[in-house]
Amino acid sequence: MKKNSKSETSKRDVSVTSARAAKNGNKSSHQRMHPTRSDIPEKLREQICDILNETLANSLDLQTQIKQAHWNVKGVHFYQLHLLFDEMATEMGDYTDLVAERITSLGGTAFGTVRMAAKSTNLPDFPTDLEEGMAFVAALADRFAQYGEMVRENIDVCDHLGDMDSADIFTEISRNVDKRLWFLEAHLQAQSAVKEIGNPRVAARPKH
Ligand SMILES: [Fe+2]
Repeated sequence: MKKNSKSETSKRDVSVTSARAAKNGNKSSHQRMHPTRSDIPEKLREQICDILNETLANSLDLQTQIKQAHWNVKGVHFYQLHLLFDEMATEMGDYTDLVAERITSLGGTAFGTVRMAAKSTNLPDFPTDLEEGMAFVAALADRFAQYGEMVRENIDVCDHLGDMDSADIFTEISRNVDKRLWFLEAHLQAQSAVKEIGNPRVAARPKH
């Protein structure tokens, strides 16, 4: 298996991810690893599966949060946002499948029920008091930014660990998440939206 050069950036990212796992109480590290003919050492496969399971939990959580917005959005932009959110939820569903099947390809166990995801996600709850379209857009933009940061970090971690295939999956997701963050923020960058919800550039990041 190819080993990559250990850049300072990658070392930092690995420690960031380890710190994140510790903060989460290593919720995803109790998986059963199955025997496989893969040449990737089991210890390494287990580490990568933990990262993938954390991503799976966050992806499932975000998918249902997007659906929550799809169902409850109101206002003059209702229909446009209703359709956009549905597209985004479908895409997030594709990522969950991609990530879960990478876990099982590596001999791991995918933790993909709603209850499992709820225990392991890092994302904040979706607010229940939103009324107008741009407030839903801003709430999703906050969560896409946080999710995108985690996925980008995982590219570096998998690169550092020498698993370029998982890094490729994270890269694919990251590229699309950046695009969707642009779609969301394009609504918020108009002056009318800035007046309505405040300047998104200085909006507080969600607490987690
Ligand atoms: Fe629907």
